Amino acid sequence: MQQQNQTRHIVILPGDGIGPEIMAQAEAVLNRVNEQHRLGLSWEHQLLGGAAIDATGKPLPEQTLAAAQKAGAVLLGAVGGPRWDQIERSIRPERGLLAIRSALGLFANLRPAILYPQLAEASTLRPEVVSGLDLLIVRELTGGIYFGQPRGVRVLESGEREGFNTDVYRESEIRRIARVAFDLARLRNRRVLSVDKANVLEVTELWREIVTDEAKNYPDVTLSHMYVDNAAMQLVRAPKQFDVLVTGNLFGDILSDEAAMLTGSIGMLPSASLDATGKGLYEPCHGSAPDIAGQDKANPLATILSVAMMLRYTFKEDLAAQSIENAVAKVLDAGLRTADIASAGTKLAGTKVMGQAVVDALA
Ligand code: IPM
Ligand code: MG
Repeated sequence: MQQQNQTRHIVILPGDGIGPEIMAQAEAVLNRVNEQHRLGLSWEHQLLGGAAIDATGKPLPEQTLAAAQKAGAVLLGAVGGPRWDQIERSIRPERGLLAIRSALGLFANLRPAILYPQLAEASTLRPEVVSGLDLLIVRELTGGIYFGQPRGVRVLESGEREGFNTDVYRESEIRRIARVAFDLARLRNRRVLSVDKANVLEVTELWREIVTDEAKNYPDVTLSHMYVDNAAMQLVRAPKQFDVLVTGNLFGDILSDEAAMLTGSIGMLPSASLDATGKGLYEPCHGSAPDIAGQDKANPLATILSVAMMLRYTFKEDLAAQSIENAVAKVLDAGLRTADIASAGTKLAGTKVMGQAVVDALA
């Protein structure tokens, strides 16, 4: 994340389900800030996931990957849906997402969980437990059990089938994600919690050892450790104790959904997946929500906030990023809510109205 990425071209992947609807709103926001702040950004659309399978037979077509490799950043809606659940495992929509993360080397997944004060009532937890919540999950994204070999389903001699995956991390992979967490903690409250299952799994015993070693380079940051089962419990018991959480691919997947719900709705949370140079793929933490697709019900704010993260982390346009975040806060202040974050006394809005309100709120 040291070098500045020079390319100001973006590849947009709307994807499946609610992806195209929320992306249309994010694109309108991008368009407006691009003009207002003279960012000089350009973009094109490509296919990923089920949409790509329908058009080309593959979840990650070569054309999409080539465009993404050339671009400075990628903006993604969501992939997957029941329509593609029956096709062969290796070419399902989700594989397209995993393949692009891996091919672009996006090992550092940043998932901030911030509770907007306006939404304290929308959380299923008591307001005093979650109000003021601001934590960051740093999830390792290109290793661990998601990618480890061998993997598969085999038939045993007895005729019974057996499924298997491999959880594997190299020292270098652990060290580089630890550094990302420590560097980010320096911009926050200088506390890192590493989450593992070192009491059972050797791979995470090594994880703990390497993270502890890397911490020596960050004497100003406090490191602590927690087993993942306890971390899952603490997240709902007293989530405000956390600053930066760093963990492997699978634990990060699970804990980030849990953290998202603390904020009232997973529909609010953006994410960034970064390589070593600051190039990134930005996407909402939520999925493609096929049950509400095409109904103008989806919350576009997570995707809009992903645009803000893109401007901040890849293009170093902090002012423009901040203006988007301010516009979102303004719209929430005005009482506008999509169904997922609605509560008594607020104004229900659809995807389009919500998106347009953010565009209008951009100073
Ligand atoms: C996420 C999603 C993906 C993951 C799926 C869609 C493959 O749940 O981004 O958290 O497991 O990484
Ligand atoms: Mg997930």
